[in-house]
Amino acid sequence: MLKIDELKVSYGGIEAVKGISLEVPERKIVTLIGANGAGKSTTLRTIAGLVKPAHGRIHLQGEDITGYTPDRIVSKGITLVPEGRHVFPDLTVLENLKIGAYLRKDDLEEDIRWVYDLFPRLKERSWQAAGTLSGGEQQMLAVGRALMSRPKLMMMDEPSLGLAPLVVKGIFDIIKEINHQGVTILLIEQNANMALQTADLAYVMETGRITLSGPGRELMKNDAIKKAYLGK
Ligand SMILES: Nc1ncnc2c1ncn2[C@@H]1O[C@H](COP(=O)(O)OP(=O)(O)OP(=O)(O)O)[C@@H](O)[C@H]1O
Ligand SMILES: [Mg+2]
Repeated sequence: MLKIDELKVSYGGIEAVKGISLEVPERKIVTLIGANGAGKSTTLRTIAGLVKPAHGRIHLQGEDITGYTPDRIVSKGITLVPEGRHVFPDLTVLENLKIGAYLRKDDLEEDIRWVYDLFPRLKERSWQAAGTLSGGEQQMLAVGRALMSRPKLMMMDEPSLGLAPLVVKGIFDIIKEINHQGVTILLIEQNANMALQTADLAYVMETGRITLSGPGRELMKNDAIKKAYLGK
């Protein structure tokens, strides 16, 4: 579905992504793991059109989308749930969800029902100001808002950050459910254990380069991965 070739991204003179190539097959869950500062968020932000690459191409289902504006990327079916939750704190849950569909003019009822079915907790809190939700609820809302654009590919930047273990499990269950319903997932995670267990395909990124890739459960058996990311 998504194919990245030789992507390089620089901030000023510093190269954060140094020529990576990767593929995200349709309907799969793909994870990108790696140490702090490896260039994971930069990669997702570049795919989303928020950062312009210095070199390389990004193709979505055969179409070259390199350099498209962020709203055009959303209209092509790619959405990003950014690092940190970034909900609009003074708006209600429902208002936040409607903002996720800002590029669409058609009826939103069905999508709101879809999101509320996935997250009954949000339905109960439809009229609550988003800023007063718990951390886990805000993360649900950030995911729900991203789904309102009806994405083909949902990218998530550390959705489990700062959440209690039980809530983390809930977030991963939801990721699997969303994927089961046909949405392709590209996921960045610090929780390498959960990410590798869940992912069909995983890439390991170190200082701007991809150093390893393979099925998630296979990488879990790799000694270097065990040592660096699984604490074994
Ligand atoms: N807007 C920016 N301006 C300058 N440098 C930046 C900018 N954003 C990121 N960088 C640098 O690019 C490198 C890669 O950052 P990035 O956020 O992509 O890493 P990451 O893998 O997501 O790390 P983390 O796991 O800590 O979130 C880092 O050295 C970072 O300092
Ligand atoms: Mg990051």
